[in-house]
Parts: sequence; structure tokens; C-alpha cells
Amino acid sequence: MIKFENVSVKYPGAAEPAIKDLNLSFERGEFVCVLGRSGAGKSTFIRCINGLQPVSEGTVKWNEKSLSDMTHKENLEIRRKTGMIFQQFNLIPRMSVVQNILTGLFGYKKSYQNLLGLFSSSERMTAIEAIQQVELTVEPTRRVENLSGGQKQRVAIARALIQNPKVFLGDEPVASLDPGTAERIFSLLKETHSKRNLVSIINVHDVGLAKKFATRIIALREGKLIFDGLPEQFNEEMYAAIYNQ
Ligand SMILES: Nc1ncnc2c1ncn2[C@@H]1O[C@H](COP(=O)(O)OP(=O)(O)O)[C@@H](O)[C@H]1O
Ligand SMILES: [Mg+2]
Repeated sequence: MIKFENVSVKYPGAAEPAIKDLNLSFERGEFVCVLGRSGAGKSTFIRCINGLQPVSEGTVKWNEKSLSDMTHKENLEIRRKTGMIFQQFNLIPRMSVVQNILTGLFGYKKSYQNLLGLFSSSERMTAIEAIQQVELTVEPTRRVENLSGGQKQRVAIARALIQNPKVFLGDEPVASLDPGTAERIFSLLKETHSKRNLVSIINVHDVGLAKKFATRIIALREGKLIFDGLPEQFNEEMYAAIYNQ
């Protein structure tokens, strides 16, 4: 469904590319965890998947069609099909839980409707359903700034869910949470992933989480792919190859 062919990204002025000659493909049902040290190119890689980061060389394809050959409209459609979840949650602190979740529908609406905050009652119902799905037990009208980290990440996942995504992308979504909360959020992501038969590609800094939840692990070092395999194939030696100086 998603394919990287000889993809490199070099930032302006950088001596070396941030990701180098990546060849990978991802199919529905795969829950992929991406490992690598800080600076290895994980965020750059994740952002290439839906075109947030343009590639310098090579091609990213969705269903055999290259992102660079798509019209603006088709590119927006790709973004809409991608639910993104970040470490910093990227929520609007002074808005309520339900308002934040409804922003997940922005890709589906005309810009004046977004500006005026116009949502139908069925859209509001969908938001409430998403709150239930992520088992968030706070008042929907509460401001997001008053929630805990784990609750905020549940809001961010609910927002991604109402987009009705085909793909989940996560950029260290649990890095700021305590280990227990991180594991609960990961189980929720995995459960949702399985129910909806998505492609999920998630950066993690915690190898334990990757081994527990991933169906496939890939690892980057200095922008290069150095591992692509099953969690049970990921051993001590690989761990050292990724994280040792
Ligand atoms: N916007 C940018 N401009 C220039 N260099 C960048 C930019 N973003 C990342 N880099 C560099 O690209 C490399 C990979 O970064 P990144 O993809 O953020 O890695 P990771 O997410 O694994 O920490 C690093 O050397 C980083 O400094
Ligand atoms: Mg990063």
C-alpha cells in the first residue's frame, strides 16, 4: 500500500542526508515500530510517508501512485487518510476535549466551516463515540490544558480516529508519558489498529514497547536502514548496533 523507492532526504545546508536510499513497503495490518537513536532520521522518515516532508531523491508511492505525481487535491486526500499522533500531542490547550477532537474533521470540510466551528450534530456524536472508544473518562467540555499527559494523548488519538484514517503515523507518541501510561496508550493504538485494519508506523525510543506490540520492527542509523524484521529477530546484537556509539 505504501512504498519507498530509493528515498533520500537532504536538508538544505546539511553535509549528509537525514535519510538515505530507503527501500521499504508497508501493507495493511502491519504495526511497524521504528527504532533509532536521536538524529537517526526517524521523524524525517515518518513525515515523508504522507508528504509532509518532500523527498530529495526517490519516490514515495501510495497504491502504486507516486506522491509527487499527485494533484494538490490527491495530496490532501492522502493527508486526510493519515492520522498523526505526536509526542507533544499538538492539541489546542484552551479548547475543550470535544472541540479538539472535531478538528480531526477539518480535512473534510470547507475552510469557512472550520473557521466558524460549524459542526453538525452527527459530527458531534461521532466525536463523543471517539471519546468512548479511547476510554477517556473526562467531561467532553473540559479544556484540554487541564488534562494529564495520558488523557491528552487519548484526545489526540480520538482526533486521529474521527478522520477515519487508513494509516496511523506516530512520532514518539508516548515519549513524554510514564511507563504504565505509555503501555496503555500503546495497547489502545494497537487495538484500534487491529479493529480498523490500518497500516501503523510509529517511532518509539523504548525497545521494550516495540518488541511487545510491533508486528515488524525497522531500525535506522545515520539515516540508513540497518534492520527490518520480526520483533523476535531483534536481539542484543541489533540493540548494540543501533544504540552504541
Ligand atoms: N528541518 C531540518 N533542517 C535541517 N536539518 C534537520 C531538520 N530536521 C532534522 N534535521 C537533521 O536531520 C537529521 C535527522 O533528524 P530527525 O529526522 O529529526 O531524526 P530523529 O527523529 O531520529 O531524531 C538530524 O541530523 C537532524 O539534525
Ligand atoms: Mg524525532
